[in-house]
Amino acid sequence: MEKICVIGVGYVGLVSGAGLSEFGHDVTCVDIDEVKINLLNDGKIPIYEPGLQSLVESNCRNSNRLHFSIDISKSIKDSSVVFIAVGTPQKKNGKVDLSFIDSAANMIADNINDYKIICTKSTVPVGTGERIEKIILSKNKSTMFDYVSNPEFLREGSAVNDFMIPDRLIIGARTSKAYNIMKNVYRPLYVNETPIMNTSVETAEMIKYAANAFLALKISYINEIANLCEDVGVDVHDVAKAMGQDGRISPKFLHPGPGYGGSCFPKDTLALSHLGKKFNKPLKTIEAAIEVNNNQPMRMIEKLNNLLDNKISGKKVAILGLSFKPKTDDIREATSVKIIPELVRLGVTIHAYDPIAMNNFRNQFPDINYFENWEEAIRDTDACIILTEWNEFRGIDLIKIKSLMSEPVILDAKNILSISKLEELEFKYDNVGRKISL
Ligand code: UGA
Repeated sequence: MEKICVIGVGYVGLVSGAGLSEFGHDVTCVDIDEVKINLLNDGKIPIYEPGLQSLVESNCRNSNRLHFSIDISKSIKDSSVVFIAVGTPQKKNGKVDLSFIDSAANMIADNINDYKIICTKSTVPVGTGERIEKIILSKNKSTMFDYVSNPEFLREGSAVNDFMIPDRLIIGARTSKAYNIMKNVYRPLYVNETPIMNTSVETAEMIKYAANAFLALKISYINEIANLCEDVGVDVHDVAKAMGQDGRISPKFLHPGPGYGGSCFPKDTLALSHLGKKFNKPLKTIEAAIEVNNNQPMRMIEKLNNLLDNKISGKKVAILGLSFKPKTDDIREATSVKIIPELVRLGVTIHAYDPIAMNNFRNQFPDINYFENWEEAIRDTDACIILTEWNEFRGIDLIKIKSLMSEPVILDAKNILSISKLEELEFKYDNVGRKISL
């Protein structure tokens, strides 16, 4: 078993650290954020991620294999494998901010005391591995380490499961020694015959961007088809279902909606598009996917305005769902973040509710009205928009909604409600690419 240091306790670092300790390794997760580390040492998890609390608890308390510390230098020195899982935010110009990566690389450079694997999990542009290697080499001999790129494919909301049962493992390693150590790190997966690909460092970096951008492209594609379905009187769900039955297409990521959000797709598509431009190979498909995605939330506002007979100003609107997807409290690049300020600008009074993400949203938008449950949020409103497909909204009681609202007007931006039920109850409604009645 290896002694592992994971730098960065964001959702990638934390889930990976907990997962690696579950595999039997002795893991220390480190971060410069003392508040987060103290929280973790008190048994509290700073993010909402199903299954993570119990995984962390069992590996900290029961087996004592998972530790949290702010002593980054010591943890690097004590480890044989160091994972870099720090944030790679987007700069104003759309490029990736590598300052956290650089400082992690410098910490490693200053503390390497014997041979180690240095492995990046953060999503980083092609060429970043080489940049990290150069930083470490500026202060150390090449025999002191091997660099590995090991991108993760965790989805928020199901990250623990994705870590424990991944579709594939990508290990970008330049030497067979490094590849074999990494295979050993992931031994339980290797034994379970998880497909493992040994690639170059640059290939591994590219795979991550190409995969995320392709998924984003798929979503923008189905959203454009959905928008067209509205004009030609076709239900996009029938189209997507039939498309998905073709094994070459697959049914996944063909669900239309208000556009993709989160900390990955918006950032990664932009970063890949920048890379294309840098090498004078503009990625036109990705640029189009970005443009479609930028327009989709604004289409939701147009739809709402239509439902309200173009008199949106002065109306009360309930927003059900604030997180960028269900089972997470993450609101980064969520549709709610794009739509709500615009609705406020148009003179709308917002009644917001989300089962988990409300505190995060309140920190960013303190001035809108928040309610503890959907019933209260919806009371006396002129319209309601569903922006996140939380399970509690899937089975929502439409009769109750109708009785509580001033007017039974619903924009189902995630296409989760039964159209026949809405028709039967005489709602005025709209959705994305399905049959509508105005
Ligand atoms: C995404 C990828 O799915 C992961 O494989 C990857 O590891 C991760 O990014 C990352 O780079 O770290 P995530 O952003 O957590 O994961 O969530 P997704 O489930 O991919 O959803 C992203 C957005 O697309 C959400 O806003 C979701 O509502 C939207 N979406 C997804 C659709 O609008 N339609 C779909 O059919 C699927």
